[in-house]
Amino acid sequence: MVVSSAPGKLILLGEHAVVFGQPAIALAISLRLRCSASPSARHTVNGQPLSDKFHPYIHAAIGRFWDGEPLSLDISSDLPSGSGLGSSAAVTVAVLGAIDRMRSDSTESSVAERAFEVESIVQGRASPVDTSTCTHGRGIFIDRSRGDRFLWEIRRDTRKWFIHHCEAPEMGMVVGYTGVNAHTGPLVAKVKRFVDRSSFGRELIEEIGQIAVEGRGRLVADDRVGLGRLMNRNQKLLAVLGVSSPELEKLIDASLPHSYGAKLTGAGGGGSMIALTDEPQKVCGAITRRGGTPFVVRTGVEGLKAEEV
Ligand code: PMV
Repeated sequence: MVVSSAPGKLILLGEHAVVFGQPAIALAISLRLRCSASPSARHTVNGQPLSDKFHPYIHAAIGRFWDGEPLSLDISSDLPSGSGLGSSAAVTVAVLGAIDRMRSDSTESSVAERAFEVESIVQGRASPVDTSTCTHGRGIFIDRSRGDRFLWEIRRDTRKWFIHHCEAPEMGMVVGYTGVNAHTGPLVAKVKRFVDRSSFGRELIEEIGQIAVEGRGRLVADDRVGLGRLMNRNQKLLAVLGVSSPELEKLIDASLPHSYGAKLTGAGGGGSMIALTDEPQKVCGAITRRGGTPFVVRTGVEGLKAEEV
């Protein structure tokens, strides 16, 4: 039997715009997903037959990238699914990590590339931000060209993403889960329609990309005030793009009095928000009072790794 694990992630700056090839920053978080794999008479997931309907990401990963004997896979996770914290990317990366270990053949960049392919098969239009973060861990910065701390490059149609390691200090971050599960695919499609039809939409996307570039500088300088301001501006632009929601706005408003900045993270429409704060307990209390579920997370944790059996 082999066991591998991958972290969830939060997108600090740049979601949605990154799908168009704009820069973004994402950090791995201390909520993990584990996958164990052992030979079996047929493919199963937690004792149930592997199915496209119930396990779309695992089904696509095994169907596309495993031609060995059937596997019994067991998945356990700290990540609420549909929360915008990268549970689909983490399961894809952990499964690919496990099957690579069975073959004793793996590199980070090849896992990240295949995980992006799986996500694209299941979700449709996507960027490699989630899958690359869950693979590499710590922090990543996606840019339009190759720079310092370059890790790998991923291409799709005319788009190119240059993935870099991003140094990030240990920061107090609270995640607030709205309890509303939103589907990423339709939200990504809605933003594309907006951007295809209006130059204003394209300007919003460009500005979000610039915010991510500036945010990388603030992060490296550990300038939390500056970073918080960029998060707030990013949230305004995401709301104009139509991907915020009343539940998200409620939790963001509740967090702001105790935070440097707060914004939705991931696809939006529900899912989760994040707040950068020195007072995590106060933010957690405010989120709970407004009906959300808070998690205090550590950022900058390890990416895909093999676990002891
Ligand atoms: O699926 P989520 O909620 O982790 O969001 C993904 C981030 C998007 O930028 C909206 C989509 C993508 O593939 O980058």
